[in-house]
Amino acid sequence: MKFASQVVHAGDRKRQPGAPVPSTTPIHLASTYFYDSAQTLDRIFGHEEEGFCYSRYASPTNAALEELTTTLEGGFDSLATASGMAALQIAFQTVLLDRPHSVLASHSIYGATVGLLDDVLGPFDVRVKYVDVCDRAALEKAVHSFQPGCIFIEGISNPLLRVADIPAIAELARNAGAALVVDNTFATPMLMRPLDLGANVVVHSATKYLAGHGDVLGGIVVTDEAHAEPVRRLSRIIGPVLGPFESYLTMRGIKTLALRFERQCRNAGCLASWLASHPCVDRVFYPGDPNHPDAATIKQLFAPGLFGAIVSFEIKGGTRSSILEFMDRLRMIVPGTSLGDVHTLLLYPWIASHRNVSPKMRERMGIGENLVRIAVGIEDFEDIRADLDAALRGGVW
Ligand SMILES: Cc1ncc(COP(=O)(O)O)c(C=O)c1O
Repeated sequence: MKFASQVVHAGDRKRQPGAPVPSTTPIHLASTYFYDSAQTLDRIFGHEEEGFCYSRYASPTNAALEELTTTLEGGFDSLATASGMAALQIAFQTVLLDRPHSVLASHSIYGATVGLLDDVLGPFDVRVKYVDVCDRAALEKAVHSFQPGCIFIEGISNPLLRVADIPAIAELARNAGAALVVDNTFATPMLMRPLDLGANVVVHSATKYLAGHGDVLGGIVVTDEAHAEPVRRLSRIIGPVLGPFESYLTMRGIKTLALRFERQCRNAGCLASWLASHPCVDRVFYPGDPNHPDAATIKQLFAPGLFGAIVSFEIKGGTRSSILEFMDRLRMIVPGTSLGDVHTLLLYPWIASHRNVSPKMRERMGIGENLVRIAVGIEDFEDIRADLDAALRGGVW
């Protein structure tokens, strides 16, 4: 099946002997399951037979969603987690189980991921180093000197939208005995599938494009075969799993992912072109820009004609206070946090996603006080343009 059909069908319509087949997977709220024979339960507890016994281990609604995300990312198995951050934590803990406790991470990533690495894993003796993963020489040098157990990148980096050469990094990781973990939240499997390109583990904040409607907090970890059972083993103990209602909503959201994302990408292309000649705008960051520093990699990795649906830009003379006023002038665009929803969202990294990153790290990431990020929705582009134009022109910059 092609992607647009997989999003609609994969994971659904499980048959059980003698029972009618629901056309979509229902929400199974039960926390415990039993069988006609306790011997069956015994075999399920012992992993000798597949089945459900306790929802911290596995449950039917989650299993359907996990089959769907495994199919979309071309993985071996998936785990649906309570948030994207929970997905990242279990991914790092899994890949570091039998490798050196050191993570070489892209220096251009979501602020809370920096917090996870430095403040959560760091105190447990995980060494962390940041590098520009789009600078091949710097990356190679860091791999050789640091000897990481894990290399971590975002498929499209947050918020400056750099795109690293995943196949080349996967080869470097393999040769160094490190696992490659890719956060594919911004790109979605519609744009690229990192496991096909050599990654070991893919992570999503399902809160974003997968669920897509601003009503779910969730995460997904998709693994290759080698990391599937270790992820399950950790999850069975820690239990960071997604609730069944959120699983249902995520699955329902994914059914329209292909439609939504195509429209969002198209709107983002229009927005980037329009912003490029706007008198209040200094610089625009957009993967579809022919002069993008990673244009050759983007051409090689992304599905043809799609460049993602995020556009970041610097506002001429923008300061914290003038940007907060600009946000207050928006009438339709939601000046909140997050991305990937059907509605257009504007985020100011300085106060939101990268608020808790040190000023030094922020400077290294290239995040200035005048940078804003737009996650383009599915509205009519003219309404997005008009709202932004009025808010930009209404200020004294
Ligand atoms: C790229 C990326 N990864 C992970 C996360 C964390 O996801 P969640 O908020 O679902 O925990 C976010 C949240 O914004 C994100 O942008």
